[in-house]
Amino acid sequence: MTKMVNKTKAWKKLEGHYKHVKDVEMKDLFAADKERADKFSINLEHMLLDYSKNRVTERTMKFLFNLARECQVEEKIKAMFRGDRINFTEKRPVLHIALRNRDNTPIYVDGKDVMPKINEVLAKMRKFSDAVRFGEFKGHTGKKLTNIVNIGIGGSDLGPVMACEALRKYWAKDINCYFISNIDGTACAEVLNKIDPETTLFIVASKTFTTIETLTNAKTCRKWLVDALGEHAVAKHFVALSTNQKEVEKFGINPENMFEFWDFVGGRYSMWSAIGLIIAIAAGMDNFEKMLDGAFAMDRHFAEADLEHNIPVILALLGIWYNNFFNAKRYAVVPYDQYLQYLPAYLQQLDMESNGKFVNTNGEVVTYSTGPVLFGGAGTNVQHSFFQLIHQGTDMVPIDFIIPAISHNEIGEHHEILVANVLAQSEALMKGKTVAEAAEELAEAGKSKDEIKALKLYKSFSGNRPSNTMVFKKIDPYTLGMLVAMYEHKVYVQGVIWNINSFDQMGVELGKQMAKSILPELQGNAGGVHHDASTSQLIATIKRLRK
Ligand code: F6P
Repeated sequence: MTKMVNKTKAWKKLEGHYKHVKDVEMKDLFAADKERADKFSINLEHMLLDYSKNRVTERTMKFLFNLARECQVEEKIKAMFRGDRINFTEKRPVLHIALRNRDNTPIYVDGKDVMPKINEVLAKMRKFSDAVRFGEFKGHTGKKLTNIVNIGIGGSDLGPVMACEALRKYWAKDINCYFISNIDGTACAEVLNKIDPETTLFIVASKTFTTIETLTNAKTCRKWLVDALGEHAVAKHFVALSTNQKEVEKFGINPENMFEFWDFVGGRYSMWSAIGLIIAIAAGMDNFEKMLDGAFAMDRHFAEADLEHNIPVILALLGIWYNNFFNAKRYAVVPYDQYLQYLPAYLQQLDMESNGKFVNTNGEVVTYSTGPVLFGGAGTNVQHSFFQLIHQGTDMVPIDFIIPAISHNEIGEHHEILVANVLAQSEALMKGKTVAEAAEELAEAGKSKDEIKALKLYKSFSGNRPSNTMVFKKIDPYTLGMLVAMYEHKVYVQGVIWNINSFDQMGVELGKQMAKSILPELQGNAGGVHHDASTSQLIATIKRLRK
């Protein structure tokens, strides 16, 4: 039986250490150590992680690495790469790393190397995406397919949406990508209003092929297509990405038009698999494979670097330091790159569906906090929304800043202004502004004594607010692969330390089940289900308003 992590020796050490360092000011740490930025930074290829603006000392990091060792992080990393069934509640290995295992070292599941199958699907994706891009695979009426619609939700949507947007600059000129995820008919209607059936390819992306949102949306789109072009058109306008051939066939998609993946790929870890088909069609298979190469580089780093120089491990430990010791239950990811605008939404599922768990691997309720709330958005936009709270709110919200050195769109001074902003934010959060400094500034601006007295506290900033900054050369497919794989591994390490299963998602089931029982009631066939008074009232009101 694994001990609760908050009962380990390393945790106890950290608790004691926290009392000594909790009030230490980062600006004093910088003043005392000229080497601090260098000491608390890691370079990997073109990437720099600067984690020096965190409330840690060398001792803190030492204690955190001890915690990782006591929780057997090194062993658990090996277990993942070996293909052990670390998703123990579902008895599955967790092998998104096999999807980008670019040197093809065999990875065995039940004694069978999974790499040949993975490479077969990659080859099929290349053939198909090239055929669509170059107009060889045409629609039913002989027209080129230029509108690509991905129908999927959760992991079958967020990865493709995020990566397509991130790689928009690489899209083929005549290709347009659309995404339908929500069951809200508006999602379907708004896409269908924009496209022409003759030039549209629907990709139905669903690991299980049983998800109600995806199947309902796919049926609506199928009907729309058949109404316009007839039943025979389906073969030329629908493909499926799934692990479930039986359901794909039942839906009426020819298995030849199905791109397979496997149970060892979790939904939120699946953009590297056939689920990435729309990325390959939009940006080309060469770029899709460059994304796999970038992820592979991060995988090698994660598997091979010692803990002290391991980027995902360091990010995970810092997250635990804030969540469990500073009681910071939220954190933000802010990419300063418009093309990464959907990264926070993607990471929300990755992090919160993975680590939003309250039962440990022993089947006990944990006695400490696990996954934090993740939110974010693109800088500088978010500076004008939630940054007020980040700077002057009562609670600490650690931030990850992401910035490319080179923009895809170097127009005038835009990129310099963008870079100046991200750097200013992390510096301002760290340094803050004392009340005396605020008073001085007000005096310089010609304010009266009374005004200075009234305003100086409002204009002060406590500072000492932590952030990581990740600098990339440019957001290209390779970089994107590195970046996403980095967060995947960070989440895994945190799950290992919290001793939870980061790879199931049982918490999404209850609501789904209850929706099934409410549906017949809304449709007028009361199922005799007993609801609480609030739910009954809401059902009755909605029915009344619909009359
Ligand atoms: O939200 C729960 C979930 O199972 C996710 O993990 C998954 O990404 C999503 O639903 C979609 O599932 P599927 O790909 O099977 O349609």
